[in-house]
Amino acid sequence: MASIEGKSCRAVGPVECRSTGQVPALNWNWRIVVWRDLPNLCAMTFAEAQRRHVRLAEELRQHDHAYYVMATPTLSDVEYDRLYRELLDLETAHPELTAADSPSQRVGGAALTAFQPVRHSVPMMSLDNTYSPDEVRAFVARVQKGLPGEALAWTVEPKVDGVAVTLRYEQGVFTVGATRGDGTTGDDITANLRTLRSLPLQIWRGFAPAVPAVLEVRGEVFLPVAGFKKLNAEREAAGEEPFVNPRNSAAGSLKQLDPKLVAERPLALVVYGIGVVEGIPGPSTQRELLALLTSFGFPTPERVWTASSADEILDRIAELDAVRRRFAYETDGAVVKLDSLRQRELLGATAKAPRWAMAFKYAAEQAETRLNAITIQVGRTGALTPVAELEPVFVGGSTVGRATLHNEDEIRRKDIRVGDRVVIEKAGEVIPAVVRVVVERRNGSEVEFAFPTVCPECGTPATRERTAAGDGVVWRCGNPDCPAKIRGRIEHWCSRGAMDIEGGGEVLVAQLVTAGMVRDVADLYRLRRDELSALERMGEKSADNFLEGIRVSRGRDLWRLIFGLGILHVGAGVAKALARAFPDLDELSRATAPELTGIDDVGAVIAASVEAWFGDPSNRDLIARLRAAGLQFNSSTYTPADAVPSGPLVGKTVVLTGTLPSLTREEAAAWIERLGGRVSSSVSKKTHYVLAGTDAGSKLEKAQTLGVTVLDEAAFRALVGTSGNP
Ligand code: IVH
Repeated sequence: MASIEGKSCRAVGPVECRSTGQVPALNWNWRIVVWRDLPNLCAMTFAEAQRRHVRLAEELRQHDHAYYVMATPTLSDVEYDRLYRELLDLETAHPELTAADSPSQRVGGAALTAFQPVRHSVPMMSLDNTYSPDEVRAFVARVQKGLPGEALAWTVEPKVDGVAVTLRYEQGVFTVGATRGDGTTGDDITANLRTLRSLPLQIWRGFAPAVPAVLEVRGEVFLPVAGFKKLNAEREAAGEEPFVNPRNSAAGSLKQLDPKLVAERPLALVVYGIGVVEGIPGPSTQRELLALLTSFGFPTPERVWTASSADEILDRIAELDAVRRRFAYETDGAVVKLDSLRQRELLGATAKAPRWAMAFKYAAEQAETRLNAITIQVGRTGALTPVAELEPVFVGGSTVGRATLHNEDEIRRKDIRVGDRVVIEKAGEVIPAVVRVVVERRNGSEVEFAFPTVCPECGTPATRERTAAGDGVVWRCGNPDCPAKIRGRIEHWCSRGAMDIEGGGEVLVAQLVTAGMVRDVADLYRLRRDELSALERMGEKSADNFLEGIRVSRGRDLWRLIFGLGILHVGAGVAKALARAFPDLDELSRATAPELTGIDDVGAVIAASVEAWFGDPSNRDLIARLRAAGLQFNSSTYTPADAVPSGPLVGKTVVLTGTLPSLTREEAAAWIERLGGRVSSSVSKKTHYVLAGTDAGSKLEKAQTLGVTVLDEAAFRALVGTSGNP
């Protein structure tokens, strides 16, 4: 009989209640059990459990609202976790308590293979937009002409630069969420949207007069600027292409097929409109609409202005411009809307956009300057990134002397030549970019840029690769000993997010590499005080500090070490997941790709990258030298109890059919799951094994048609060897 402690362990057998010693009646099909602080669960009647569940769910919902919508936390993290865990325990013991709007249902859906189409009952239109105050005046005049004699009132709202979504609530419960798509049909991204903690899974009943039978809410999903910066830093550290701006990162996140990955991104929501409303009297103005949505628990724009003339609208647009950079989301304009919904109805819409609203876009700050040169930066992963070296120019609040040109395709597409006059742009968190060439100012002296086919650092031929995201092409230096890569790897190892070695910044690392003192991270652990203090600009005190930083790093947690190794696609989050699953580096280094794929957050691309890295003899040698240098290879954060099972069936799907000679169906299923496998009821191309006994019927036939490996009990026992017992 096993008893498990710790977070998210897989169930391995009946577990007794710590306080009463009884074995609760549980459904053995569940895969994850949280089994700590079980409050007399088995002694609770179902009715008691149900009452407690309602209470807990409500408290957690209130906290989510306070924290994620109102930004005023009401519970400490520890207290929140305690309540959440209690809720999960109750749901484990009584699966029937798990309703779609339970706070436990934010993450949990399986990864999808494709998004399903959703037809919008009210089309999601776009907005006419303009950069010109005169066009705003013309718009107001047009509306007045369409509503002769009527008094007009307007609202001015931030135009949130995110991804438009529609959210459907039935009887107050979130049922479907979709993207805009072509305006008529979008993608069903419900599972991804559920992970947004500012999105109410049920309409807030606290202040609401009545809950509508149907309500469709329209708004925007965004990645807050702080989250965007963090995500990009992680992507770069993992050798992945950074997102160009917060909007792209939100769109990219919502397109993930696996909701677990979406849950890791701190996406947020803001809403500003409605589609279908049934069962309650609808609002009559935009102001009422926003107040109603706020009372239902939705996050609405923090400021909305009102105006009654074109002049006032333009003043409000200027006021919004002065404060919009303080918002958590980026704004690219103001949306001017007629306040009265009755008047909107009278005006109607064109094929594309309503006649009662218009977007005023703030121009991104641009400046013209000369492109003096294009240089190539070689990153830690060997990627060759072209950089525009510019005549310094003040734009978007700072002086810009360099701008990324992303890759070779980008230079071609924009026909950028050295010596060109170029327009550069900087808006919000966007990395300064070259928007276009001022072709009229060419005088014939401009030179087309020949993208190097060899690494400018070491002269090794570079190879052309598609990016992992498939959105472009990168040239990569193939020399593992390229000095730029060596510098990058050592800087990364020393960086704060990895081994956090004080003093190990760009300048010192370059000195160490140039002087030939360090060729890989293991060499750091052999540095002597006398050779260090002999370096230029290195005093004895700095040398001592650096050596102390190196000494301390020997004991850093395993996940930092794994992250520090700089394995392609292994960011800090993945490094933690790996350390949790394999709290010992030697075990991790022996793990096969299928075993790695069994770990949450680790997909096939990451697994292949990790397996390949540890399979490389020079990396094995590096690990041996790090061990000799006294680095800690065991995690001090994670223990073997945190590990997911590893074994011959991790990541494998098995179908059972027929009668086995010595195992019951339940025994076989439990054994397979204990070894990390998944039992499925139907045979498909994705099935790895069919375990067949006597009287096996159509499943066996299907396996044979599809070429799936069929095992009898003896073959199965041979495959799994002595791993676990039935
Ligand atoms: S109202 C009938 N209000 O901008 C269309 N849209 O460029 C009503 N957007 O498709 C849209 N902030 O995705 C509205 N405060 C706001 C908005 C907003 C951002 C988006 C929306 C729209 C796009 C048009």
